[in-house]
Amino acid sequence: MEPKRENLSRKSLISIQDFSKDEIIHVLEVARDFERDRSQKLLEGKVIGSLFFEPSTRTRLSFETAVNRLGARVIDFSDAMNTSVSKGETLKDTIKMVSNYVDMIIMRHPLEGSSRYASEVASVPVANAGDGANQHPSQTLLDLYTIMQTQGRLENLTVNMVGDLKYGRTTHSLLQALSHFNPTFIFTAPEELRMPEEYKTFLDEKGIAYKETTSLEEYMNDCDILYMTRVQQERFTDPMEYERVKDVYKLTAPMLSSVRPNMKILHPLPRVGEIEQDVDETPYAYYFKQAENGLYVRMAIISYLLGYR
Ligand code: CP
Repeated sequence: MEPKRENLSRKSLISIQDFSKDEIIHVLEVARDFERDRSQKLLEGKVIGSLFFEPSTRTRLSFETAVNRLGARVIDFSDAMNTSVSKGETLKDTIKMVSNYVDMIIMRHPLEGSSRYASEVASVPVANAGDGANQHPSQTLLDLYTIMQTQGRLENLTVNMVGDLKYGRTTHSLLQALSHFNPTFIFTAPEELRMPEEYKTFLDEKGIAYKETTSLEEYMNDCDILYMTRVQQERFTDPMEYERVKDVYKLTAPMLSSVRPNMKILHPLPRVGEIEQDVDETPYAYYFKQAENGLYVRMAIISYLLGYR
């Protein structure tokens, strides 16, 4: 099958800001179509490179499942130490080589800016599967899809982001994407992990309202989406600082007695204690369906970047 849009066949997704509001809505609509019919073999004959320099369960497996369901094939590594990176090969050389083999690259890397750099040296589209504390745009698109699915709209919602807002790339990308839809934000974080100034400046410039608190209870009953995040041990250089903040929030089922009836709890996962298991049985828990949605949204991202949808 030929792509619909030859001129877009080199588009990459590095930051959620690479997509306009119309492109975001388009990808969400395509994802809904893939949720209705998961087996659309649009990409038969294509080969996709899946390069994970950092651990992943959901992002890697859902991207690779998406490739398979679209009829393409995957070449991959999930441990760069099994590649010539362990012999000192640079990221530039690795990407240039792999882009000679494949039609598209999916990459996760611990360094902020690495995906942008890869897209500049690659001869094929690159999808950023997370670069350090910077961006995780495919997660953002599946978050938006899930918000739309649970609330029936994206406009005028109150979103309470909780946990590691300093290093949390999912919150950074989601904040930027939701800025198209007139949101109100609540940022719930300990002092050490507050939302960075650059993102608050971004919101100030757009006239988007936000409140900050260190208390999970303070605004929990005033939001449509409670977006929980993990305190990420791997982002801390000081182990003592991690120990101080790692258990700062623990959401339990009894805490949900007065939340809005439409409220849903999202989490990019993995969780490590910030949501107790008793929450899973409440009507507010939606994080496992959110992870499932990653498959449909990543099918949509791949087919869009390759010009097929
Ligand atoms: N949400 C997410 O990025 O999960 P993984 O680290 O398992 O890919």
